[in-house]
Amino acid sequence: MTLHDLVIRSGTVYDGSGAPGVTADVAIRGDRIAAVGAVTGRGAREIDARGLAVSPGFIDVHTHDDFAVLLEPEMAFKVLQGVTTDVVGNCGSGVVPFAAGLQRFRRIHPDANPKPWDGFGGYLEHVDEARPSLNVAVLMGHGSLRRGAMDLAQRPPSRAELDEMCAWVREGVSAGAVGLSTGLIYEPGRYAATEEIIALARELGGAAGGLYATHMRNEGDALLEAVREAIRIGEEAGVPVQISHHKASGRRNWGRVRDSLKLIEDARSRGVDVTADQYPYTAGSTSLFAVVQNGAFRRDSPGGIGTLAASDVLIASAPKHAEWEGQTLEALAQAWGVAIEDTVERVLAAEGEACFVVTFGMDEADVKAVMAHPTTMIGSDGVPSGGKPHPRLYGCFARVLGHYVRDAKVFDLAMAIHRMTGMSAKKFQLVDRGTLRAGAFADVVVFDPATIADTATYAEPRRHPTGIRAVLVNGVVVGEDGRHTGARAGRALRRGRR
Ligand code: ZN
Ligand code: CU
Repeated sequence: MTLHDLVIRSGTVYDGSGAPGVTADVAIRGDRIAAVGAVTGRGAREIDARGLAVSPGFIDVHTHDDFAVLLEPEMAFKVLQGVTTDVVGNCGSGVVPFAAGLQRFRRIHPDANPKPWDGFGGYLEHVDEARPSLNVAVLMGHGSLRRGAMDLAQRPPSRAELDEMCAWVREGVSAGAVGLSTGLIYEPGRYAATEEIIALARELGGAAGGLYATHMRNEGDALLEAVREAIRIGEEAGVPVQISHHKASGRRNWGRVRDSLKLIEDARSRGVDVTADQYPYTAGSTSLFAVVQNGAFRRDSPGGIGTLAASDVLIASAPKHAEWEGQTLEALAQAWGVAIEDTVERVLAAEGEACFVVTFGMDEADVKAVMAHPTTMIGSDGVPSGGKPHPRLYGCFARVLGHYVRDAKVFDLAMAIHRMTGMSAKKFQLVDRGTLRAGAFADVVVFDPATIADTATYAEPRRHPTGIRAVLVNGVVVGEDGRHTGARAGRALRRGRR
């Protein structure tokens, strides 16, 4: 007698709450979990999970896959690391209004030419039509809203311009967007004063509404001022706050995460719901244009990225000059026999904003301190572009579970899973996700805690992890033993809705 579509048999089940694993079966019927425990009925299909961990599917709370999920719906680089839900729209880069979003994302996908959408509701409908392999929730990127309302103007918005941005946020809230994001080192987000952001965040619906996620104005010398600004926005608008890719950037700021974590703790004790996300690497990645605009090569007065040497900057994507990818600016300067400034100028002249770089600016001890802190969840910040993208695009979640849990013992497996699943679903209000219990959606990962490992490196970043037995999205097996099954079972997720 077959009772279930699928039974994952005798694994160590982590429910996503942070509770320790228990030996149990997981039965799935349709897109939902039917039972967790000792399951008597057979499944039409069974997966033997003895010796393996069974966890809720990972939620990547920090992505730039807004267009990738439409253009490359199999999303192998994500589902094969166990990610079953992507939160897109981070760092102020958003998909609304359409023209501003397209302009932004052509840096990542130069040939993108999707059918236009109307508002966040329209975008989420496009996601449902494209039916990617994973679920997609959307943040409203402030940079795109501002560009749509007032192009790149370096001034506060007029009443009418602010009203236009507020109207887009209201549309997004009613369509089910999960929050508002800013990128305050980027054009044009950097031109926004705190008051402008507070006004927009007030449209999010208060404590039970969407959240405010921010790539802060400064992650270098002025890290603490930037954290204070983020907290102030949350407090004055009365909304939850998510600090994106929490870090201290630039050697002379190493160790400062102790103070930024303290600011988060203090705000939380005042009742402000502040948390953060992090990718598990000591290098970041952004556009070369932003690195230059933020003065990262100036030692005296650098901006939001901190200081970087030319040897710390690796070309990740150069669509017109693939031969530059994987080389440092220093190496290019030497090969060309020119100064660093001229090298940067030459690369920008050839590639414009399509050139992304990997920047080595963090301290390993800081990465561990942030990860160990209970306010940190995991988000890849992967940029799906170029021949040598930052390896976080493929390896983020496996690297946490392999390198940082098993090898470095920064936290235990149950806690690491919680920070990728239950904690994330709660903060982003993804209902019946991030948990393994009867009635929840069947987003599940089965992996071997003894062998799971990232294999993507800076030199060879486009490599899938090992040690992942199966990945299920809405009850459908999309990944198996490191291979994509071709199944596309993802959906658009709308905040607070089943
Ligand atoms: Zn960012
Ligand atoms: Cu980002």
